[in-house]
Amino acid sequence: MAAMALLSSLLPVLRNYYIALKVILQQLLCRSFTLPDLPRQDGKVAFVTGGSRGIGYYTAKHLAKHGMHVIIAGNNEADGNEAVRRIQQETLNEKGEKSLTEKDKTKDNDQRIPGTPNLTSLIGKLARASPEDLEEGGVEAVGEMGTLPVEFLFCDLASMKSIRNCVQNFKAKNIGLHVLINNAGVMLVPESKTEDGFETHFGLNFLGHFLLTNLLLDTMRKSGTPYFNTRVVTVSSATHFNGELNFDDLQTSHSYSSHGAYSQSKLALVLFTYYLQHQLTAEGCYVTANSVDPGVVNTDLYQHVSWPGRFVKWMTGWLFLKTAEEGAFTSIYASISPDLEGIGGCYLYNGQRIKSADVTYNTEVQKRLWAESCKMAVLPALT
Ligand SMILES: NC(=O)c1ccc[n+]([C@@H]2O[C@H](COP(=O)([O-])OP(=O)(O)OC[C@H]3O[C@@H](n4cnc5c(N)ncnc54)[C@H](OP(=O)(O)O)[C@@H]3O)[C@@H](O)[C@H]2O)c1
Repeated sequence: MAAMALLSSLLPVLRNYYIALKVILQQLLCRSFTLPDLPRQDGKVAFVTGGSRGIGYYTAKHLAKHGMHVIIAGNNEADGNEAVRRIQQETLNEKGEKSLTEKDKTKDNDQRIPGTPNLTSLIGKLARASPEDLEEGGVEAVGEMGTLPVEFLFCDLASMKSIRNCVQNFKAKNIGLHVLINNAGVMLVPESKTEDGFETHFGLNFLGHFLLTNLLLDTMRKSGTPYFNTRVVTVSSATHFNGELNFDDLQTSHSYSSHGAYSQSKLALVLFTYYLQHQLTAEGCYVTANSVDPGVVNTDLYQHVSWPGRFVKWMTGWLFLKTAEEGAFTSIYASISPDLEGIGGCYLYNGQRIKSADVTYNTEVQKRLWAESCKMAVLPALT
């Protein structure tokens, strides 16, 4: 009996280490994915959870560099505001350097009264806007002149109340939403519960994003056009291949394993993405949903790994793991690449569509998880 219990707690650990080593080896042997040139997205809005640091920070930064109005949602106000300040400063610096080489833009900027819109950029936005944008949205669709390009919104994904407040605050801005990146996450935290009593990995990584996405979908539906489908991009992980969904014990209260709980939450995110896409296709709206795998990335996500593991990562991470910026590339690609226009229901790794775990394609499992999640998140059930 004791041997069985030991084996069941060791198995998820061994499986996760095995898959991590496999991915690291692939990263070393294959050329890493570099971000292609992507079109500017002026006037569009992105919402990035966990954008204060790690992969989310670079995702937010690149999207801002591409002209998006970025909302960073996080549970640490000081870190969030610091991330906003850094991104604003870095993107403004880079813009400044670039405009020096573009004579006409420089002229426009030089003659601009501080605080007034940049006419070159406004004309660019008008030129890129679709006829529908102009007919329907006016200023909102073309861009929010006068608003800051990056801002922070408080959102604790471990609290349903906080998520609902955050969405309310976002909606009060009365702006569109073109890209939602479900990026935030925790890994290998000791057994604990969210404010609403869900196991932390399941409640925060999965259920928090499930609720957030469902609450933001109406805005995304309204913002989608035949020219730009709005996009839900959900960050999963290769560990989802090891995940097991036990519907009788989704909160893993019987035999807790932090490795098993993390893998389960990442598996749930892929199932959620596919079923969401299934419903969006059935509705015929201009919204797509994809899931991405960033690879093994050198970030703070490993803070709960045992100290020998952290020591090895500290010694070798710079050599074997992707940088946080490299880890963000697939999320950015999924968010704005024209290659994925109107395409959903994919699992992307290194900018390529790959097959996810077999179970993720099982529509019965997807549907059951969706139904259970609606109950847990107190959302209307599927009809
Ligand atoms: N690093 C990897 O090797 C790897 C591999 C596969 C998948 N991923 C996935 O990539 C995503 C980003 O991870 P990362 O590597 O960038 O890790 P990270 O540096 O630890 O960043 C995690 C982010 O999640 C946010 N977060 C944590 N708890 C939150 C909460 N209760 N509410 C709102 N936000 C919260 C953090 O925000 P605060 O700073 O505000 O706490 C932080 O910005 C995660 O979903 C992770 O599972 C990472």
